[in-house]
Amino acid sequence: MKIQIAPSILSADFCNLERDLKAISNADLVHVDVMDHHFVPNLTLGEPIVKRICEVSPLPVDAHLMIDDPDRWAPEFAKAGANSVTFHMGATHAPVRLARQLHDMGAKACFAVRPAEPVEPLFDILEEFDMVLIMTVEPGFGGQKFLDNQMNKVRRLRDEITRRGLKTHIQVDGGVSPSTAHIVSRAGADILVAGSAVYGADSPAEAIESIRNNAQEAFCA
Ligand code: DX5
Ligand code: ZN
Repeated sequence: MKIQIAPSILSADFCNLERDLKAISNADLVHVDVMDHHFVPNLTLGEPIVKRICEVSPLPVDAHLMIDDPDRWAPEFAKAGANSVTFHMGATHAPVRLARQLHDMGAKACFAVRPAEPVEPLFDILEEFDMVLIMTVEPGFGGQKFLDNQMNKVRRLRDEITRRGLKTHIQVDGGVSPSTAHIVSRAGADILVAGSAVYGADSPAEAIESIRNNAQEAFCA
């Protein structure tokens, strides 16, 4: 399986976003963290800025919504041009309806689970989603330490996807770097989000390549 890298612009320079988007053009997706000061104790940006990012980004945009009431707001991000929209299972009331609505709008649908949330209760609705995001930090901030205790969850999910012959991607987000990339891909993740490890590096493009190479070598289906 081909590993994909999704740099998170949470660690980019918000006054030089276009420049910082160009700096990651060897990645596969751009990860845009939307936070609302309610679902998480941090505030970032909303749909007008996501719309501009989608217009100038050389890469498809994945909007990671860490917000209350995604049932109401997630479609606005599909309308803004996001290629995929990720919402938190703990914040949504009707995830299947929302996934279908996003698909009808031409966007991919992804649900996220926090570190203390199990993924097994969601196995029955896996077919409705293109990706699942397993958080490897508590959502809200960049630069936190990677939680390796999430790897059994990633492995159980990968085994379930393989057993049923699904095409669902597994994303991991939080603390991913060249030195943790092999751990998440060995557990079965194929899309790696990395913020501080990419934008904190002297060369974001080289950091992307080393995360990609380390992950690709260790990937275990
Ligand atoms: C955290 C965000 C992440 C964050 C990751 O809540 O969802 O996408 O940018 O940052 P790093 O890679 O620095 O842990
Ligand atoms: Zn994120």
